[in-house]
Amino acid sequence: MIQLEKLGKTYSSASGDVRALSDIDLIVPDGAIFGIIGLSGAGKSTLVRCINLLERPTSGRVVIDGEDVTAASQKRLNTLRRNIGMIFQNFNLLEQRTVARNVRFPLELARADVVAEGGKLSPIKKRKFFKDYCEGRVDELLRLVELEDKKNAYPSELSGGQKQRVAIARALALKPKYLLCDEATSALDPNTTSSILKLLKDINKKLGVTVIIITHEMKVVESVCTDVAVISDSKIAEHGTVAEVFSRPRSDIAKELIIPDLIRAIESESGKKLRLIFDGTVSDTPVISGLALESGVKANILYADTKNIDGKPLGHMVLEVAEEDLEKAENYLAAHNVLFEEEL
Ligand SMILES: Nc1ncnc2c1ncn2[C@@H]1O[C@H](COP(=O)(O)OP(=O)(O)OP(=O)(O)O)[C@@H](O)[C@H]1O
Ligand SMILES: [Mg+2]
Repeated sequence: MIQLEKLGKTYSSASGDVRALSDIDLIVPDGAIFGIIGLSGAGKSTLVRCINLLERPTSGRVVIDGEDVTAASQKRLNTLRRNIGMIFQNFNLLEQRTVARNVRFPLELARADVVAEGGKLSPIKKRKFFKDYCEGRVDELLRLVELEDKKNAYPSELSGGQKQRVAIARALALKPKYLLCDEATSALDPNTTSSILKLLKDINKKLGVTVIIITHEMKVVESVCTDVAVISDSKIAEHGTVAEVFSRPRSDIAKELIIPDLIRAIESESGKKLRLIFDGTVSDTPVISGLALESGVKANILYADTKNIDGKPLGHMVLEVAEEDLEKAENYLAAHNVLFEEEL
């Protein structure tokens, strides 16, 4: 589990101080696929870079599996970092190395620890052990990301999606428990994005890796994340399960990011807009016909949409209701346990 406690980060430069994070309290539970969303400059990258201490927080603590990593010595930090893989928007592959040698790279950096797994060995046997271990591990990882046939290719010979697969294999080389993804699909087309997200989901399920995904694409959060935090202006605006936050965003920023522009853009000519939220719990009641028949409210359907979030159906419907009927409509919906919000 990753715990951020009162985390703060201020960048100091000649042109002045920039507060990138203030008072961040957040828990990323083990096994989650945790989305982080927010506008550009909100502090998302800084937040994940503080988790593996690529960036040093100026206040607060990062606690991973009960250990305060902000207080760790450099030596301990090097070990702790192996438990956290990271991938980026621009892949960051080593262009002079083949795919296999890119994936092997973290193993080379951790050679002493890898060799220690072989027990007490002579120098020659150590070399052999390391070579065999790396070959086996690289093959295994390339199988996982379905790139066995590109083993000897160079990054320049790969598509964006393939490069990200190599980066994922490399990030998993040391069997980390956590994988941080900073806009990992932002440079990819929609189909490639889906295949990378599917891979991340598989890695989460099969290997039990906890995944943190920074993204500006709400579809990414909808399709793979279990939890989401919304950052605005260096603070957490809100967080919760994706089903909770995506059905009823509370903060202005979450509403702006999550409620489709389409819904907000719908014009109501002669009444008020009510956004109904169906989370699969009250589907047995014919709410809309009941609204008309039982309470005499006339409502026009302006928009309806259903999505599948974390395996559950989540529907939105925007109704146009005459102003004088609004209270009646709201009473009816509340009595039938339908979640709704008045849209402006
Ligand atoms: N190394 C740095 N030195 C000074 N200021 C920085 C540095 N890195 C980031 N910042 C500032 O900190 C704030 C947060 O930046 P950060 O990169 O975390 O945002 P972000 O949410 O990841 O944005 P984006 O969506 O554009 O990637 C911004 O105001 C940014 O200008
Ligand atoms: Mg960023």
